[in-house]
Amino acid sequence: MNAKPTRMAAVIRDLQKHYVLKSETVRALRGVSFDVPEGDYVAIMGPSGSGKSTLLNLLGCLDQPTHGSFLLGDEDVAQMTDDQLSTIRASRIGFVFQSYNLIAQLSVVENIEVPLYYMGNLTAQSRLRSIELASMVGLGERLDHRPAQLSGGQQQRVAIARSLVNDPYFILADEATGNLDSVTTEEILALFQRLNDEGKTIIMVTHEDEVAQHAKRVIRLRDGEIQFDKPVVDRKVFTAEQIQEIAHNADVASRSAD
Ligand SMILES: Nc1ncnc2c1ncn2[C@@H]1O[C@H](COP(=O)(O)OP(=O)(O)OP(=O)(O)O)[C@@H](O)[C@H]1O
Ligand SMILES: [Mg+2]
Repeated sequence: MNAKPTRMAAVIRDLQKHYVLKSETVRALRGVSFDVPEGDYVAIMGPSGSGKSTLLNLLGCLDQPTHGSFLLGDEDVAQMTDDQLSTIRASRIGFVFQSYNLIAQLSVVENIEVPLYYMGNLTAQSRLRSIELASMVGLGERLDHRPAQLSGGQQQRVAIARSLVNDPYFILADEATGNLDSVTTEEILALFQRLNDEGKTIIMVTHEDEVAQHAKRVIRLRDGEIQFDKPVVDRKVFTAEQIQEIAHNADVASRSAD
């Protein structure tokens, strides 16, 4: 029996990024190559200045490489115009930021729909999809809440639901748990694991070993190069019961806060 071929969410080859300043050229990425198969869960780590944000900006189609290729599906992002970049960014990449980046005036469902709005795709269907995603992240009873009426963990769950509304190639999470306490960090990591178990591809930048331990693979950068790229040994995996319990506790905590 033939195994089903693994599809790639992203293929990166010899990616380089040089920033040209007045007196010098900073080689922020010096030729980075790796594949991200669909369903992978990658933590990008490395010391300050090693190139993490630079790589994240390239993966998120926020910037163009100086050299190299980045295949997203069948398309080489490195060859795209600015307009093509913003289209692919809005349509096929799910961003989750440290600071949630929700719109204060919009409700939970409306925030989740924002990427569809930018694509001009708001339909009756998209409202249903948004409600479904809100329920999936445990906010089905808070559809009309505004961000200020939600805890940090709940706000980040809205952001995660929003990141999925476009059916992205991958979720790109930038220090997604950086603003959260340890209990809420667990809540978000349990959600990431559940999504990844369901086949979603996740690429996250983190400073914390504790967080990276939940990924399947760590890519560590040093001076703009890959120092190592290896599977996580003794990966921390939540059991189904733990995931349920964490979601239940989060719900109880937020009810008592209402
Ligand atoms: N816009 C820019 N112009 C010039 N140099 C830059 C620019 N952005 C980043 N750099 C330089 O590129 C290198 C990599 O920076 P980058 O921000 O990618 O590191 P990082 O790993 O994200 O660090 P941190 O953990 O501090 O966020 C650094 O030497 C930085 O000074
Ligand atoms: Mg950075």
